[in-house]
Amino acid sequence: MELWMGNDSQAIAEQAADRIEEFIRRKPDAVLGLATGSTPLATYRELIRRYRLGRIDFSQVRTFNLDEYYGLSPDHPQSYHNYMYEHLFRHINIEKQNIHIPSGTAPDVEAYCREYEETIAACGGIDLQLLGIGVNGHIGFNEPAEELEPGTHFVKLSDETIAANSRFFASLEEVPRYAITMGMSTIMSARKILLLAEGEGKAQIIRQMFDSGITTGIPASFLRLHHDVTVLVDRQAGRYLMNGREGAGAR
Ligand code: GLP
Repeated sequence: MELWMGNDSQAIAEQAADRIEEFIRRKPDAVLGLATGSTPLATYRELIRRYRLGRIDFSQVRTFNLDEYYGLSPDHPQSYHNYMYEHLFRHINIEKQNIHIPSGTAPDVEAYCREYEETIAACGGIDLQLLGIGVNGHIGFNEPAEELEPGTHFVKLSDETIAANSRFFASLEEVPRYAITMGMSTIMSARKILLLAEGEGKAQIIRQMFDSGITTGIPASFLRLHHDVTVLVDRQAGRYLMNGREGAGAR
């Protein structure tokens, strides 16, 4: 895994956007895997800014989101559908039919998850996957567990994740208990992965991701088996990595 350390959220956003912009320039119909949460917000703002400057054309880009809460309709303010349209899609020239976000209301969940995987495959797989990381080491909604699931699946959220995400809801009770998420193999099959982490709250898990063994207890630790992962952190999230590992691309 390559580590890149910047001063703050904006530095991470610019670095991520540089890589995404360059990727789309080389492959205008790139298949992007997208994440939600607070972390990618600055990157999405930076992508919108560059689109407005005429630097990025999203007209052929295809996207697949990592996950969605189960039980929330697309127009729910906290659905990831709503998040993606508000924070990115409605500001850029992406075609609606090229946008894929797991459905939070599919009645036949298993069939739906299979279909999501098939659609990704039909698009040729994910070229560039953007990831955040949960404080418990989850990626997408692949929660720490004895066994991890390979493909897109229905998942029960951990108490830790429900508590962490309750900041977006009026109360803890309102946080959905279930979600649909890409699986570990869906994520690991992406050709290139960018994981973003910022703030003190992520420092411990970032250290563990680099230094623990590869364990289902820290789903993000599996990224160490991937040949093209770049971890972009700010100084706070990377604080325990400062010694010796501040290498390639760090500033
Ligand atoms: C959420 C999402 C993840 C995200 C993570 C971190 O629950 N399912 O995809 O990476 O938690 O979120 P944040 O960036 O807000 O810390």
